[in-house]
Amino acid sequence: MSDAVPAETLNKVLWAIPNVLCLIGSRHGDEWNGMTQSWVTQVAMEPVLVAASVDVTAVTNRLITDSGVFTVNLWPREDTRPFVKFSKPATKEGMTLNGRPIREGSTGAPVFTEAAAWLECTVWQKVACGTHDLFLGEVVDAGIADDEAVGLVARIEDTRMKYGGVKRGGQ
Ligand SMILES: Cc1cc2nc3c(=O)[nH]c(=O)nc-3n(C[C@H](O)[C@H](O)[C@H](O)COP(=O)(O)O)c2cc1C
Repeated sequence: MSDAVPAETLNKVLWAIPNVLCLIGSRHGDEWNGMTQSWVTQVAMEPVLVAASVDVTAVTNRLITDSGVFTVNLWPREDTRPFVKFSKPATKEGMTLNGRPIREGSTGAPVFTEAAAWLECTVWQKVACGTHDLFLGEVVDAGIADDEAVGLVARIEDTRMKYGGVKRGGQ
């Protein structure tokens, strides 16, 4: 990338790309985690693939790499509180993460029972992308908890939070 483009411009343009805001569930053995994630999108129809780009230093990255599975939990728009808490490694107590109830999905990864809708994925391919690894996940299960809420899932613009842009911009 050219350093000639001011970081402020790049940030403004990159932050203008609409993104969901969701929780990625991951687990390897006894270690479970949930993480605030905005970089998620569908990338193929056959197989049905979703891509999630996860910081190489994140606990979630290690858990997905070791287990080969993850979940995408779309969240009701009116409840954006969990996203602050899930931006650092989660605390598990019983079948909760940061106090939010979970169940073990068919892949073994956690599904948040408060999610409006969820996907369970097995890693189809992992692509190294510098600061992040792009996990291409094949969707092996999915569900809708709340028909009404699924049309109103949280998006990053529902919050004052930002993610991404350029590293040299101080992110
Ligand atoms: C609004 C918001 C969006 C985020 N989106 C992503 C993302 O798409 N990918 C990512 O790797 N980290 C993202 N993060 C940062 C992670 O949530 C945070 O670094 C996380 O705690 C690291 O994961 P860990 O708990 O697995 O270590 C985001 C944070 C916030 C506040």
